[in-house]
Amino acid sequence: MSSENPGGKIPMTGRAPADDVGDILVTQEQIRARVEELGAQITKDYEGEKPLFVGVLRGAFLFMADLVRAVDLPLEIDFMAVSSYGNQTATSGVVRILKDLDEDLEGRHVVVVEDIIDSGLTLSYLRRNLENRAAASVEVCTLLVREGRQRVDEDLRYVGFELPPDFVVGYGLDAAGKYRNLPYIARFIGEG
Ligand code: IMP
Ligand code: MG
Repeated sequence: MSSENPGGKIPMTGRAPADDVGDILVTQEQIRARVEELGAQITKDYEGEKPLFVGVLRGAFLFMADLVRAVDLPLEIDFMAVSSYGNQTATSGVVRILKDLDEDLEGRHVVVVEDIIDSGLTLSYLRRNLENRAAASVEVCTLLVREGRQRVDEDLRYVGFELPPDFVVGYGLDAAGKYRNLPYIARFIGEG
């Protein structure tokens, strides 16, 4: 254990802990600052409302937890779990709901909280699904967008960071279930 990082085995900057995790693309500090900005923007935009934040499991769990603490509104939260890839490695556009919402969406202002938009197919399915439940509005807040990959033209109201094509892990995002607990976003260089 190094003296610069007492009590922690995960480095906050510089080299990542495992061989298959590459350089850090978004640091913990950059995430923290951007989440504050997004929270302030949402607070302003939804003034007087009680929005329902819908976190998309599992990738958005950390972002959701930090984001709601940056929003100063009487909000409520719920979660959905979806699987977009099945047993393939690329998006199929076929989305399965693994865990549905507990809340009734009728008349609610919904903010969908996502980890990353790649092709956009998962989000496109989700948005249609939520709008069909008579929500008053459905907007999206995603931590990450992969540049130039969207196959559907989605209106992304709140975006944290745009990323190059590389697969990334950390801050909720996984590769085969691992690395969700890294406090930063890093390039994944191992075998997907
Ligand atoms: P889409 O339907 O192609 O937009 O896929 C979006 C979903 O794929 C995200 O919600 C993630 O769960 C997953 N995903 C896409 N890219 C990455 C990545 O670089 N790291 C981890 N998960 C990813
Ligand atoms: Mg996801």
